[in-house]
Amino acid sequence: MDKKFKRTTVTSALPYANGPVHIGHLAGVYVPADIYVRYLRLKGEEVIFIGGSDEHGVPVTIRAKKEGCSTQDVVDRYHKIIKDSFQEFGISFDVYSRTTSETHHKLASDFFRKLYDKNEFTEKTSEQYYDEEAKQFLADRYITGECPRCHAQGAYGDQCEKCGSALSPEELINPVSQLSGAKPVLKSTKHWYLPLNKHQDWLKDWILNNHKEWRPNVYGQCKSWLDMDLMPRAVTRDLEWGIPVPVEGAEGKVLYVWFDAPIGYISNTKEICDKNPEKYGNWEKWWKEEDTRLIHFIGKDNIVFHCIVFPAMLKAEGSYILPDNVPSNEFLNLEGGKISTSRNWAVWLNEYLVDFPGKQDTLRYVLTANAPETKDNDFTWKDFQTRNNSELVAIYGNFVNRALVLTQKYFDGKVPALSEITDYDKATLQEFADVKGNLEQLLDNFKFREAQKEAMNLARIGNKYLAETEPWKLAKTDMERTASILHIGLQIAANLAIAFEPFLPFSSEKLRKMLGMETFEWNQLGKIDLLKTGAALGKAELLFEKIEDEAIDAQIQRLERIKKENEEKNWKPEPIEGESTIDDFAKLDIRVGTILECQKVPKSDKLLQFKIDDGMGGRTILSGIAKSYPNPEELVGMQILFVANFPPRKMMGIESQGMIMSAVDKDGKLVVTSVSKKVANGSRVG
Ligand code: 2FM
Ligand code: ZN
Repeated sequence: MDKKFKRTTVTSALPYANGPVHIGHLAGVYVPADIYVRYLRLKGEEVIFIGGSDEHGVPVTIRAKKEGCSTQDVVDRYHKIIKDSFQEFGISFDVYSRTTSETHHKLASDFFRKLYDKNEFTEKTSEQYYDEEAKQFLADRYITGECPRCHAQGAYGDQCEKCGSALSPEELINPVSQLSGAKPVLKSTKHWYLPLNKHQDWLKDWILNNHKEWRPNVYGQCKSWLDMDLMPRAVTRDLEWGIPVPVEGAEGKVLYVWFDAPIGYISNTKEICDKNPEKYGNWEKWWKEEDTRLIHFIGKDNIVFHCIVFPAMLKAEGSYILPDNVPSNEFLNLEGGKISTSRNWAVWLNEYLVDFPGKQDTLRYVLTANAPETKDNDFTWKDFQTRNNSELVAIYGNFVNRALVLTQKYFDGKVPALSEITDYDKATLQEFADVKGNLEQLLDNFKFREAQKEAMNLARIGNKYLAETEPWKLAKTDMERTASILHIGLQIAANLAIAFEPFLPFSSEKLRKMLGMETFEWNQLGKIDLLKTGAALGKAELLFEKIEDEAIDAQIQRLERIKKENEEKNWKPEPIEGESTIDDFAKLDIRVGTILECQKVPKSDKLLQFKIDDGMGGRTILSGIAKSYPNPEELVGMQILFVANFPPRKMMGIESQGMIMSAVDKDGKLVVTSVSKKVANGSRVG
C-alpha cells in the first residue's frame, strides 16, 4: 500500500433488497472485495469492510407490487436472505446493515440538509411524467418505451438494458406507464438538483489526470462521461418510499435512491464504530482522514454513480475523502445468457447451497477463475465441474492429501525431519520463492483472477514434487529421504493454506487445522519453516470432493426447464403474413382420412410414415413430425386433415402422396389437426 495511507475503507455495492443474490453478484462484487479484505487483514493492515442492503428505490417497490405485499415486508425478507447468503459464502463484512436503519435515515437526511444549507443544490420545477390513472408521478423505472439509441423495446426510463445507454424518461419513444399501462402525461413538479456541471473541471482533473491507474473499463466509462457536458442531476423524487426530503415545501418527496444508497456506506460504518468503538475507533477516521484509502467494489452499471455522482456529493459536503480506486467488474453471463432476476436466469446463492452443501469454496474458486475483470464472462456448469474435479480435487486436494496421509502412515502423523536438500528440492523451492511477491503484485492491483492462478501454481508445484519424488515408493528403501520429501511437501501445504486464505477461506481453515497450525499470517508466505519438525498434525480429511455428472446434469436440466418456461411465457402467435384469396384457397384440396397405420421411417429421426384410409382406396403420406410423437401408434384410428392434391414426392425411397396438416404449438411441438365429429373418409374441407 502507498506509504501515505494508514488504513483502508473497503465498500461493496449495496444490493437492492428486491430478491436473493446470485452468482453474478458474487463474481462481480463480493468475492473480489472479500479476497482483497482478507488479504489486507492477513497482512495485518487496518481495514474495515462495509456492506448492507439497499432498501429504498423503485426496484423494491416494484417487487412489492408484484408479490402483492408491503414494501417493508419485501425488504425485511430479502435483507435476511441476502445477509445469510453472504455469511454462508464467507464474505467477511465488518458490518452488514440496511438503508432503512435509523442511523442511515438520520445521516442521509443531515447530509442532504448540509448541502442544501451550503447552497450546493439548484431547484427546478419541471415537467415530469405522471400517471393519471394511478394518480402519481412515475419513477424512471416505472416508464418503459423504445430506446432512442438502439430502438429496442422495453427500455426503462433511466437505462436501456439492451445497449446500456443511460436515459431520461422524456427521451423514450412511445412511453408507457408500468403501473397502469396508460400513456403518461407531463405535469410540473419541483425538485433539487446536484449541479454536476459545476463539478466537471475538478472531476476531469481528478480522474483523467490523477487516476490513470484505474481499470481501463472504469477509466474509459468515466472519460466518455467527462468528455461530454455533465448536467445537473435530480436528487429527489416524488415517491412515498424513501427518506423524506428534509426541507420545507418538499412534502411527498423523498431522496433519490442513488443519493441515499452510497451514503449508506458511511452510515453503516458509523453504526459498527458506535457499536464497537474499541475495535474500530471513531467512524470519521474511516471517511475523513487523508491517510485513509477508500476503495469501492462495484459492478459496471454502478460506475457513474461511484466515480462521478458520489464524489461530487462528497466534495460538495466538504469534509470527506474521495475514493482512491473503484475496481469495477464487467458482467457474468450464465450458460451464454444474460443473468436476469425477472426471467429467473440465475444461480441463486441460497439454492446453490441446498444443492451443493459445504461447497462454498468451489463456487468462489470458479467465479474467481472466470472473473469478468476485463470483459463479460460466462459461467457454465460443465466448466464448474471441470475446475472442481481437475483443479481443486486433482491438483490442490490430491497434493495435500498425499502429503498428509503419507505422514500419518510412515511418521505417525508428526512432521518428519529434513535431513538433506537435493538439487531437485532446491529447484522446487526456487520455483515457489517468488509466489509471495507475485501474489502481492497482483492483489495490490486488483488482479484477482491472475492471483488465484498464481496460488494454484503453488499447488501444481507441490503436486509435481510428490509425483516426481514418489515418497510412497522410497518409503520401502530410504526412510530418511522419504522424511525430507514429506517435510518439504508439508511446508508447501502450509504455504498453500496461507496463499489460498483470501480466495478459499473454508478450505484454508480446514487445512490449517489438518496441519496443526495455530494461526498464520501473510508474512510467513514463501518460508519453509512454518511447521516444526516433530509437530503433530491434525486429522487428515479430503479438502475437496469430486462433483459427479448427475449433479451437473440436474443443474443443466433446471436451466433448460427455465428456458422453456420463459419461451412459453414470451410466446406470441406469429404475425399474419401476406394476403390470400378464396381462389388461392380453392386450389388446395384438403380431405379427411383415418390413420390406419403409423410408424417411424427407418434411419430417419424426423419422418413418420402414415397409411391413410382416404375413402378412395388408401394412400401413403410421410410427415416430418416424428419428434413430436415418440409413440406414433397412438395416432392409429384418428381422423386427420391432409392436403390431397400435392404431386407425389419421394423421401428416403418412399413415395408420399400428400401432406398431413399440423399446428405448431408454442413449445415448437407439432400437433396433427382433426375434425370435431366423425365424418366420412374422403370428405372435402373448405
Ligand atoms: O445496482 C444496485 O444494485 C444498487 N443497489 C447499488 C447501490 S451501491 C451503493 F451506492 F450503495
Ligand atoms: Zn438501447
